[in-house]
Amino acid sequence: MTTTTQAYGEDNFGFTTEQVHAGEVVDGDVGARITPIYLTAGFVFDSFDHAQQRFAGHDGGLVYTRYANPTNTAVEAKITALERGVDSLLVASGQAAITVALLGILRSGDHFLSTPSLYEGSKTLFRENFERLGIEVEFVDDPHDIADWKRRVRPNTRAVYGETIPNPKNDLIDIGLIAEFAREEGLPFVIDSTASTPYLIRPIEHGANIVVHSASKFLSGHGASLAGVVVDGGNFDWARYPEKFPQFSTPIGGPSSPTLTEKFGNKAYLEYTRTIIAGRLGPTLSPLNAFLLQQGLETLSLRVDRHSRNSLAIATWLESQPEVTSVDYPGLASNPSHAIATKYYPRGTGSVFGFTLAGGQADARTIIDSLELFSRMSHMGDVRSLVLHPGTTSHAHLSADERYRLGIYDGLVRLSVGIEDEADLIADLELAFTKLRASRAGGAGHVAATDHAADEFYSVPEPGADDVLAVSSTVAGSPALTARFSA
Ligand SMILES: Cc1ncc(COP(=O)(O)O)c(C=O)c1O
Repeated sequence: MTTTTQAYGEDNFGFTTEQVHAGEVVDGDVGARITPIYLTAGFVFDSFDHAQQRFAGHDGGLVYTRYANPTNTAVEAKITALERGVDSLLVASGQAAITVALLGILRSGDHFLSTPSLYEGSKTLFRENFERLGIEVEFVDDPHDIADWKRRVRPNTRAVYGETIPNPKNDLIDIGLIAEFAREEGLPFVIDSTASTPYLIRPIEHGANIVVHSASKFLSGHGASLAGVVVDGGNFDWARYPEKFPQFSTPIGGPSSPTLTEKFGNKAYLEYTRTIIAGRLGPTLSPLNAFLLQQGLETLSLRVDRHSRNSLAIATWLESQPEVTSVDYPGLASNPSHAIATKYYPRGTGSVFGFTLAGGQADARTIIDSLELFSRMSHMGDVRSLVLHPGTTSHAHLSADERYRLGIYDGLVRLSVGIEDEADLIADLELAFTKLRASRAGGAGHVAATDHAADEFYSVPEPGADDVLAVSSTVAGSPALTARFSA
C-alpha cells in the first residue's frame, strides 16, 4: 500500500514529495516503512502448477532476481514517476544501461546517429564494442544543424543518441529540436541524462523517448555503489515501423500469439529490454545497491539544488581569475550554451564542468595537486567535490589533435562540485591559485608552455612520469586501456 491514494508522476505533488514517496510499498508482513533489501536470488512457487503459471507469465509474479526483485521494482517505480516515463529497468551500471537501452533497439547491420559531445566511455563503447557487434555509430559535426542530421540518415538508421549536459565542455544540445528531427524520421531518441537528473530536466517532456542514467552519480549521490537505469517514455510508436523494429511486431509465441506491442502496449520496449536483453545478458543490479540508490533518491532535489548553486558561485569566481582562459559552465551569461540553459534548465545547469588554465598542463598539475577539499577522482555527482585532468586521464587515449578538437586542452581541469559549503570550496581553490602564482614567481626549471588554448605563454615544468605513462599506453596500441578508466 502506498502512503496516498493519489498517483505519483502526474503532477499531483512537487518533485521533493515524489522523490520521497513515489514507488514506496509498505511491507505487508511486518510494516517496514522503507522498502527492504530483498536479498534473494529467486522466489518460491506454491506448487508445480504455480511454477508453470509463473513461467508462462500468467500471474505476473516474481520468478528470479535477474528479471525482477521487489527492492529494485520500488526504485524503478520511483524513477519512472520522477522522469514521467511509463516503466524503468535498473541495471548494474550506467554503461550497462546505455548498452541494454540501445540493444533493445539495434541489431547487427544497424546504424545510429549521435551528438558529438559525449561521455568518452560511451564513445569507446560505440566505436569499439558496438562496432564488433556490427552496429555502426556516426557522429554529427554540429548537433544544432538539423541539415547535418538529415543528410546522415540512411535506410538502416535506427536511433538517435545524445546527452543532456555533456562533460567536461557542457556544450548543451537543443533537446526539443533533435527530438523533432527524430520523430519526423521515425527514429527513437535515446538520451543520457546522468549529469542533469530529472530534477533539472525531464527529457521525455521535451520529446525524447528513452532516458538512461548512470545512477552511480547524482541519483545515488554518495559515491558508494554503481547503478544504471533505463526509462521508457512510452511515447514511441514501435508498431508503426514493423520493418525497422521487428522485435515489437512479431508474434512472441507462434503465429496466433500477440506481438509485444499488442501484449504490453506502450511498455513493450521496456518489457523487451528487461526480459530479452538485460534478462539474458545479465547485468543485474544487486538489491543491496538498489537500496542504496533508493536512499540517495530521497534527497536528490536538495543535493542537486546545492550542487548547482555551488557550481554557479565557483564558475563565477573562476571566470575572474587571470590564469583562467575559459569556464565551461552554461549558467554563466558569457557561455555559448547560456540561451539553451535558460530555455531548458531553469533550476540550474548541474555541477560537472571544465575550466582551462592558460599555463597548460603544468598549471593544471599545480592546481590539482594543491587542492585539499577536492578529491582527485574519476567520478562525478558525488556529495564530495572531485577534480580530474581529462587530457591525461579520461581522454588520454585520444591524439592531441582529437583532444583539441573536443576542446580538451592541456590546461583543462574538470570539477564535479559537491555540496560542501561554498565558502570552503572557494577558499580551497583560492589556496590552490595562490600556490600556482607562487610557483610561477619561483620559475626554476620551467619551459615555455604550448597550450592550445593559451592566450599568453607561461612558464611550465617538463612533463612528469604520469604523462609518459598515459602516452605509452596509447602508443602500445591499446586505446581502451586508458579509456576504460574514465567516469
Ligand atoms: C554521462 C555518463 N554516462 C554514463 C556513464 C557510465 O556510468 P557508470 O560508471 O555507472 O557505468 C558515465 C560515467 O562517468 C557518465 O559520465
